[in-house]
Amino acid sequence: MYPLRRNRRLRTSHSMRKLVQETFLTPNDFLIPLFVVEGKAVKEEIASMPDYFRLSLDNLKKEVKELWKMGLKSVLLFVKVDDSLKDNKGSEALNPNGLMQRAIKTVKDACPEMLVMTDVALDPFSSYGHDGIIENGQIVNDETADVLAAMSVSHAHAGADVVAPSDMMDGRILTIREALEDEGHLNTAIMSYSAKYASAFYGPFRDALDSAPVDIQNIPKDKKTYQMDYANRFEAIKETEMDIDEGADIVMVKPGLCYLDIVREIKNEVDVPVAVYQVSGEYAMVKAAAEKGWLEHDAVVMEQLTAIKRAGANIIATYFAKDAVKLLG
Ligand code: PBG
Repeated sequence: MYPLRRNRRLRTSHSMRKLVQETFLTPNDFLIPLFVVEGKAVKEEIASMPDYFRLSLDNLKKEVKELWKMGLKSVLLFVKVDDSLKDNKGSEALNPNGLMQRAIKTVKDACPEMLVMTDVALDPFSSYGHDGIIENGQIVNDETADVLAAMSVSHAHAGADVVAPSDMMDGRILTIREALEDEGHLNTAIMSYSAKYASAFYGPFRDALDSAPVDIQNIPKDKKTYQMDYANRFEAIKETEMDIDEGADIVMVKPGLCYLDIVREIKNEVDVPVAVYQVSGEYAMVKAAAEKGWLEHDAVVMEQLTAIKRAGANIIATYFAKDAVKLLG
């Protein structure tokens, strides 16, 4: 006697499968990270991120117009600054005419409706490649939060819609929120990298921005004193709830694929949108395997992005955003 329920009935045809499909990707899901450099007509491929480029402002302008035409509505800006501009306190980050501030204006000029999110962290500006100021062999927390708040105000002033602190200092969301309120930026949202793990998947990104931590006495070359231990789960909820209490509008889990259990857990706990960052190492793995002919690029991209959304992501930051929109047709 066969079972009364045959689950395969709902998989018999394409039309039937579409009828019962539970998760759908749309261009509105994606946030596209962009790497900006000084210069003119620069479009440099990042060695460890095939088909992904650092762009000078003129090319940024072109790119943003193209993204908007494709239906992409949000960008996340990162800048690569010259070594000569780096110091311990990331002072260049506060330059009102710095590369980030000009990049924000460039995007807004090219495409006023494009949502501009900015990375708020010291590492691309730090001579040590850390997300915090170093004093007496320590990454100091509160002094760093003050710089992040000033950076956020500077980005808001230049026209950023959303500031995205990616550093994992304690209390920085509150410090940033208060600074934005004090300066009248009431509508600048904060997307907090709230559950950001100390991950080996950030390697290609650090190549892209030349921001890897350097060897210095007494300071580990990793970010484990501020980013989370990947063995931990409850800590992610604590971090996320604290950031919401401090004024985060959107929270984030990062990286993506290895952390989808955390995404679901947080999605079930909180009432704010949850972003997931599919990071550079995840991108690089797919590219490398596809180049070797070992994986089918497009199929793997869509499977991964759908899985991230299924896990609970409301927003997906991904280097595959353009590919995905093309594939969605
Ligand atoms: C820096 C920052 C990192 C990423 C986003 N912001 C790297 C790091 O924490 O070292 C990683 C993004 C990626 O790998 O794609 N604060």
